[in-house]
Amino acid sequence: MPQSNFELRRKLLQLEALYDVGRALNTLRPEGDLLEELMQRAAAVLDAQHGFVFSLDEKLNVQHLYTLGIDLPTPSNAILNTPPVKQVLASRQPVSISDLLAAPMIAGESFIGILGVGGKEERGEKQGSFVEDDLRFLSSLAAIGAAAIDNSRNYHRLDVIRESLEDENRNLKQRMLRDYSDRLMIGDSPKMQRVIDLVARVADSQANVLIRGESGTGKEMVARLIHGNSPRKNGPFVAINCAALPETLLESELFGIERGVATGVEARPGKFELARGGTVFLDEVGDIPLALQAKLLRVLQEREIEKLGGRRRIPIDVRILSATHRSLEEMIERNEFRQDLYYRLKVVEIMLPPLRERKEDIPKLVRFFLDKYGKREGLRDVRISQDALQKLMRYPFPGNVRELENLIEGALALTTDPVIDSGDLLLPERVSPATGAELSADFPKLNELERRYISRVLAFTGGNMSKAAKILGIDRKTLYRMRASLSTNAPDGENWDIQ
Ligand SMILES: Nc1ncnc2c1ncn2[C@@H]1O[C@H](COP(=O)(O)OP(=O)(O)OP(=O)(O)O)[C@@H](O)[C@H]1O
Ligand SMILES: [Mg+2]
Repeated sequence: MPQSNFELRRKLLQLEALYDVGRALNTLRPEGDLLEELMQRAAAVLDAQHGFVFSLDEKLNVQHLYTLGIDLPTPSNAILNTPPVKQVLASRQPVSISDLLAAPMIAGESFIGILGVGGKEERGEKQGSFVEDDLRFLSSLAAIGAAAIDNSRNYHRLDVIRESLEDENRNLKQRMLRDYSDRLMIGDSPKMQRVIDLVARVADSQANVLIRGESGTGKEMVARLIHGNSPRKNGPFVAINCAALPETLLESELFGIERGVATGVEARPGKFELARGGTVFLDEVGDIPLALQAKLLRVLQEREIEKLGGRRRIPIDVRILSATHRSLEEMIERNEFRQDLYYRLKVVEIMLPPLRERKEDIPKLVRFFLDKYGKREGLRDVRISQDALQKLMRYPFPGNVRELENLIEGALALTTDPVIDSGDLLLPERVSPATGAELSADFPKLNELERRYISRVLAFTGGNMSKAAKILGIDRKTLYRMRASLSTNAPDGENWDIQ
């Protein structure tokens, strides 16, 4: 039965083609590519000389149109008036007119487009003509194509929505962080975007946050942003620099003091009490002496304070933000910082990257500070020369953003014309990246260093001279002598001794 053998082979070929197309269309590709592939395959399997395919948008206008062996109609919408297409549109059914086949591409309720072929190729003497199976095959192909296009359209719609949501989210976060004060956290670099994102997310919570980073990287700025965007924003923001005060003073600053602890002492509230309903910012938290660390830990655990010289326990209602440029981990190793306190403070940790690791932020920061200080100096349209900007891009900024801010401020104070050029930038003569933040900010004399070191050790031992002498590797008498001679050389008005 040669005839039915031929029929079987044809059907098999069509089934294989459908299977193939299904798989090929499943990978998301541009709509035009999907359509063209659909038409080429239909024509190839059905031995058609001509073909056309088009997709429609929601208003039933032709969106993409491809033809094979026939001219492209202009305008594209003209194809909607040709007889087979008109009929398919009206009936939503496949149509066969003389040697033309056309099938609707429909997914759910949406009319996605129409696929058509024409001019069956002649086989030898035999006049070509389509059979009923051909129309069924074309319909199946059109249905598969419609599903693929519908999928890809939905995917793109979602993609657009997702992108706009992401955009909105990013804008909201930045605006939110900006609204709190006129200060703006500048930074488009990926590293700063991560910081800004984290700040926005953590602000809402009550979690204690430890902010780390080299000097001048913006730790205090971040602390203020967190407070200003937190539910406690209407409460006070109370900052205390733990490095600036000797131990006993720091203790009474933090926890307060009762009246009459020493003669003439009036009662004073501590920062924890003053910050009720708000935020306490413990700046340079790595510099809190060990004995006080233990007290601070107890306060954080019990959420109560006891004033110096007092018996009463006062409940506290504060969120704790802290900052340090020190490596607390190394300090823990050396038993200079309590590990339990460390974990209490860094429920969330925000690490501010040094400026030299995000140089792409420099131009925008420069622009920001030019505007800020230009306005203050009464200069309009201040600009910076390419040369000067290049100079800044090469500089490692050991003092980070603060150093950049000071440079711009200084340059604007000196210049009379509105263009800053490299001569206006007073960069240190030679900077090797190895010098680091501490050195450039602070070049103490050797005996000053000695004085500071001894004073630190004494702070650490709580003023205990024997213990201090042991740590320093000298005997007690030498320590007394050194202390006496160094304290007379101490800078004016500065009391280097702890007790
Ligand atoms: N991303 C930034 N965008 C705009 N200004 C910034 C940014 N980072 C820091 N600044 C500015 O730089 C200066 C230093 O910032 P801040 O005082 O917060 O640094 P810090 O890390 O606390 O420094 P230190 O460790 O020396 O105390 C401030 O004037 C601050 O406004
Ligand atoms: Mg600071």
